[in-house]
Amino acid sequence: MRRPIIAANWKMNCTVSQAHELVSAFKGLVKDVTGVDIVLAPPFTSLVEVAQLTAGTDIALAAQNMYWEESGAYTGEISPLMLKDIGCSYIIIGHSERRAYFGETDDTVNKKLKAALHYGLNPIVCVGETLAQREAGEPTQVVGAQLQGGLAGLTPAQVNKAVIAYEPVWAIGTGKTATTEQANEVHSFIRQQLNAGFGEATAQAVRIQYGGSVKPDNVDELMAQPDIDGALVGGAGLKADSFARIVKFED
Ligand code: 13P
Repeated sequence: MRRPIIAANWKMNCTVSQAHELVSAFKGLVKDVTGVDIVLAPPFTSLVEVAQLTAGTDIALAAQNMYWEESGAYTGEISPLMLKDIGCSYIIIGHSERRAYFGETDDTVNKKLKAALHYGLNPIVCVGETLAQREAGEPTQVVGAQLQGGLAGLTPAQVNKAVIAYEPVWAIGTGKTATTEQANEVHSFIRQQLNAGFGEATAQAVRIQYGGSVKPDNVDELMAQPDIDGALVGGAGLKADSFARIVKFED
């Protein structure tokens, strides 16, 4: 049985004081929640604050991006060592916004993934097709290529530590959620790909999150799907009560 994992990707939102307010309210709302991994991914500037606020709770911390080197002359970048040092246990890699606006490719995803694993960060690897790619009938082709490139050269033991987030680009921030069938179809394809590349045990162990307009009113139906093991939440993760409701999904 895979343990559900629900993560909030705050994207470029919240000052430190807003982060303080949000997390202070949220942690009270979920203090009795068990059986689900909860992850918060604030911007870099709020990571330390959120780490302090969540110390002693089961809420885990993620960064939204990193570079793959440990240190050096890489102005503006943050290393896996730095993230580990302040208490991050997860790292989001290859989000579609990074692919679209900041030149991330399957190759940079692969480098970041290997670096994250080397430093003991659990990667959340994002994949997903654009609307044009879906309309051209290619969602699985696109996701298959992203997985193949992103996970290239990894061992099954390494892939076991990863979470895959399927985020159809057309469903992000648009209010359009993939139907549960559309989502589960791609999730089950991802599991088949993991099986083909890394074996049955890994395919069964890896958790696959859905992301794209997940809200309190659609999370239950999504989480009821057999191959959906969690959610990567954007907008609805910025309000304590709505994210708490998502974390407390009913299946
Ligand atoms: P929304 O939930 O705002 O659609 O964002 C999804 C997402 O991109 C999470 O990484």
